Formats: sequence, structure tokens, C-alpha cells
Amino acid sequence: MKRIGILTSGGDSPGMNAAIRAATRYAIYYDMEVYGIRKGYEGLIDGEFEKLDRRSVADIMQHGGTFLRTARSERFITEEGMAKAARNLETFKINDLIVIGGNGSLTGAHILSQNHGINVMGLPGTIDRDLAYTDHTIGFDTALNTVLDAITRVRDTSSAHERTTVIEVMGRHCGDIALYAGLTGGAEYVLVPEFETDINDICQKIIEGVNAGKLHSIIIRAEGYPVSSTELVRQLEERTDREVKLVVLSYLQRGGSPTYRDRMFATECAVKAVELIRDGVRNRAIGEKCGEVRDFDIGEALQIKHEFRHDIYNAVDILSR
Ligand code: F6P
Repeated sequence: MKRIGILTSGGDSPGMNAAIRAATRYAIYYDMEVYGIRKGYEGLIDGEFEKLDRRSVADIMQHGGTFLRTARSERFITEEGMAKAARNLETFKINDLIVIGGNGSLTGAHILSQNHGINVMGLPGTIDRDLAYTDHTIGFDTALNTVLDAITRVRDTSSAHERTTVIEVMGRHCGDIALYAGLTGGAEYVLVPEFETDINDICQKIIEGVNAGKLHSIIIRAEGYPVSSTELVRQLEERTDREVKLVVLSYLQRGGSPTYRDRMFATECAVKAVELIRDGVRNRAIGEKCGEVRDFDIGEALQIKHEFRHDIYNAVDILSR
């Protein structure tokens, strides 16, 4: 009987539990044994394996976070750490591993497959949407809706006080949360690591808005943008001579009940991964392209570079005038 392992790694994201649930129940349906590995690659190194059954994954799909827990692992990127992880998998007679995580986690999975022959299936579990091989990542939609809710609340009070508000969002080195939330939240400006912005342009936009009767301005700053949020607020206040407030959403974007979109995508990716394992296919990254869930060679997938959507960036400006 085939045994598979499942782990979640790196920053958690809403929808991870839906993926774990679907992978576990489909694997059991296909007569496989399933082992959950706690705390990502740290648990893989420490041998924190737990046999899962259908009931193990009951009542988790609607919760954010990951019931297997997660971690970032410095040890896993060492030869010794990865070798210990591989030995643990061998001890448990697990040759197939589903890894749910972001760029770093899937890269680690790929190296584990290359150096130790483990068959890996990578699912894109991150709110950042920084895996260029896929149009969606598990958690991105839920995080976007959390940011949109925050923008709506901030707009109310910014209008009441006729203020400018900078909202800082996550995304690490990727600006997609800022870009897509900024467009659909009606922000006046988005600041992303992929694109250098002249602060005078932002100030001019704010003043033009005031002169046109706008009661507020919302600036969405991705955390990877090179000028810090506090420095940005200071410069905007100084140059526009207007009140500027700062809201840092931080870990709010990582929690919450996953949306339909993230639950469905997570489920489809997980089922695809289990069926690829069933069919003896090896070392794939699962994702979505043009609305279809597909699988890609994991090495090739991780080489694809993220393309910045200048059209979306320009639309934010046009639509907020
Ligand atoms: O990768 C997801 C993410 O939320 C990033 O957007 C953010 O920069 C990072 O994780 C924070 O990492 P940690 O949870 O380790 O502080």
C-alpha cells in the first residue's frame, strides 16, 4: 500500500486546511496511507509524523491557518538537515510528499527530489501570489478580501476627517496584493517593489484630488517597497501639508476563513496532486493557468519569472482620477 506524506511550510495561508483535507480523503479513497508531518520541514527533520484518517481532517476546511502547523526551517537548507529529513521519510516508507507552501518551500521540495529521490508534489500555498507558474495561489483571494474590507473601513474615517491614509500590506518581494487590492479598493496610488515611484507624483495626485473635491486619498504600500511606511507618511505630510495616517494590516492578511475561491482552488490542486501520485507521475508543481488547474515540471515552474502587470498599475491611476 502506497504511503504519502503531507506538510505545510513557510507562511501559513487560508485554504491550506482545505488542501490537506482533500489530499487526505482522496488518498484514502485511492487506498493509500497518509501521514501528516507537523511544523513543515522542521517536523520532517524531527520526525513529527502522524498517521491521518478521514476523521483527522474533519471540520478544518473553514478555518485559516494549518492544522498541521508550519514553520520556516533554516536546518532544511543544510545538507545534513535535508539528509535527516530524507532518512525519516525512508524510515516511514514514504516516497511521495505533498508540500503546500510558497516559493522557498517548493524550492526546498525540488532540491529534496533532486538530491534524495523523493517524489514531490508542490501546491502553491501563500498569500503573496509570488509563484509565477500559476495565476493563483492558495490564500491570495482571502487575503485580498481582507485588505478590501480594511480599505472600505479606512475610506469611511478618512473621508470623515478629510485625510490621506497609507495602508501597508504584505507580499514580501511581490506587489500583487497591493496592486489588485488597490485597483479593486479604489485606491489613489499603489506602491510596489516592482516599480519605482516619484513621491512628488503621489503628492500631486493627492492635491489634485483635494482640488477636485475628494474627501480622502488612499495609498496602498506593499511591504517590499523600498521607502518605509513611516518615512512615506512623513514625506507626504511634509510635502502636502495635510494629515496622513498609517494602517499596517500585517498578519490580519494571513488569517480568516478561506473564501470559496481559495477552498475550491486548494481542493482541486490537492486532488490533482494525489491523482498524479496514483498514476506514478513525479515531481510536479500544481497551479492554475487560464482558469484551469494544471501540473508543471517543478524545476521548470520555479524558473519562471514573475511578470509585473503594468496595465493593472496604470488602471489604478486612471480609475482613481
Ligand atoms: O510569505 C507570506 C508572508 O505573509 C509574507 O507576505 C510576509 O512578508 C511573510 O510571510 C512574513 O513572514 P513571518 O510569518 O515569518 O513573519
